[in-house]
Amino acid sequence: MDAERTVPDGLEVRGSRREDAAGFVALMEAVAAEGRWIGRELPLDHDERREAFLAGIEDPEHLSLVVVRSEEVVGSLGLHHDGIGHAELGMLLAADVRGRGVGSALLAQAIAWADAHPVVHKVTLQAWPHNAAALALYRRHGFTVEGVLRRHWRRRDGELWDAVVMGLPVTDRQA
Ligand SMILES: CC(C)(COP(=O)(O)OP(=O)(O)OC[C@H]1O[C@@H](n2cnc3c(N)ncnc32)[C@H](O)[C@@H]1OP(=O)(O)O)[C@@H](O)C(=O)NCCC(=O)NCCS
Repeated sequence: MDAERTVPDGLEVRGSRREDAAGFVALMEAVAAEGRWIGRELPLDHDERREAFLAGIEDPEHLSLVVVRSEEVVGSLGLHHDGIGHAELGMLLAADVRGRGVGSALLAQAIAWADAHPVVHKVTLQAWPHNAAALALYRRHGFTVEGVLRRHWRRRDGELWDAVVMGLPVTDRQA
């Protein structure tokens, strides 16, 4: 396994399993509670998130990965193929495992999955402009900024936030 994909001792990246659903929802709840990094905000609809997670595991056009520490879910990545070549990326890590290359290891696996699926020609994502760690991570893996959606997403407090749109065409890499 190359260095890009190595995670620190005690952590493991693996495909998601049905029994990870509760841990995934708890992780998303914790990150949503921070209020700064992901689109989801509290209160989280636990049933809806659980069903979406389980559907992602069943769907062969969806990549679902988790990072576990003694089977506790401390990270997750989802890559959802829309059926016409775009795979939308979402990822999140527990606060205490950030900044140690785990995001990089997860993302490398997702890009490898896209490379191996010729039906996918592009990986896409959105990030908040203030999310410096996410933007740095995506740039380092070859994503470029394709635009900014101005005052696009309404937060629960009524604020309208911009979103940075990034993309990674994978067809060149597949050739
Ligand atoms: C974004 C996230 C997935 C990144 O994963 P990570 O494991 O923390 O990131 P890594 O350790 O692999 O490093 C990411 C890069 O960001 C850099 N970085 C970290 N914090 C930074 C900061 N505050 N400002 C600038 N760069 C920063 C690191 O130096 C690294 O860049 P480098 O490899 O070129 O040195 C993770 O921080 C996270 O889950 N955050 C909360 C949820 C979230 O933001 N999800 C993404 C929504 S778009």
